[in-house]
Amino acid sequence: MKRRRKKRSKPQKPRKTLTSPAIVSPRIAKYYLQRHTLFSKYDAGVQLDEEGWFSVTPEPIAARHASLAADNSLVIDCFSGVGGNAIQFASSRCHVIAIEIDAKRVELAVNNANIYGVEDYIDFVIGDFFQLAPRLKGDIAFLAPPWGGPSYSKVLNFTLDMLKPKHGYSIFQAAQSITPNIIMFLPRNMDLNEVEELSWLSSPPLNLKMEENQVKTRTKGITAYFGDTASALPEDS
Ligand SMILES: C[S@@+](CC[C@H](N)C(=O)[O-])C[C@H]1O[C@@H](n2cnc3c(N)ncnc32)[C@H](O)[C@@H]1O
Repeated sequence: MKRRRKKRSKPQKPRKTLTSPAIVSPRIAKYYLQRHTLFSKYDAGVQLDEEGWFSVTPEPIAARHASLAADNSLVIDCFSGVGGNAIQFASSRCHVIAIEIDAKRVELAVNNANIYGVEDYIDFVIGDFFQLAPRLKGDIAFLAPPWGGPSYSKVLNFTLDMLKPKHGYSIFQAAQSITPNIIMFLPRNMDLNEVEELSWLSSPPLNLKMEENQVKTRTKGITAYFGDTASALPEDS
């Protein structure tokens, strides 16, 4: 009896699937693909919630911010989220007071700081930055306030009143009570004239420098450096 040869089916390419339990919504999928840019140690157990995914400062940018702080600086990270910036400052020999209003996000930040081995250099505080600011002093105030979610990029000209949870002027003024040395991470479509006006809230006006922050040739944001942090930037910035 002649045996029929079984027709071989064309090998199927395995479909790429996102199996991480961290994927809680399709909105996050795009950020999950960038997970190692957000946290190079992601695979060691870094955890983020939905807002953390789209609001964390990508690690190379957070490292850049931290590189401008002098050794042993006391940095107040006023909106610390899941710890992206606090971890990099702590990794750069700074001591950090990390303030975050969302208790769950503080838990995630503690976990993430443990993974980077810098938990001893960060004091995590669950609280409202505006209530705590008048009682704080530090060498640098770091501001990465919420930009209002991923839709921030839809506007042509992002203005300070679009920042959350308060107008950018109020955020900046609260930070000024801590120190004039302020680093502010802002959207790439930020109105730069408004940022310049912030430096005029002080008399004499604060030294100010701004730089565009790119990751893999894509601009992710703009950083404004005020006071001594501007002087720490190289001249060609
Ligand atoms: C853009 S995220 C910060 C991201 C952080 N730099 C990181 O890399 O993980 C802003 C954070 O500010 C927090 N926040 C909002 N209002 C606050 C307030 N009044 N005081 C302290 N934190 C606040 C939000 O819960 C959010 O986690």
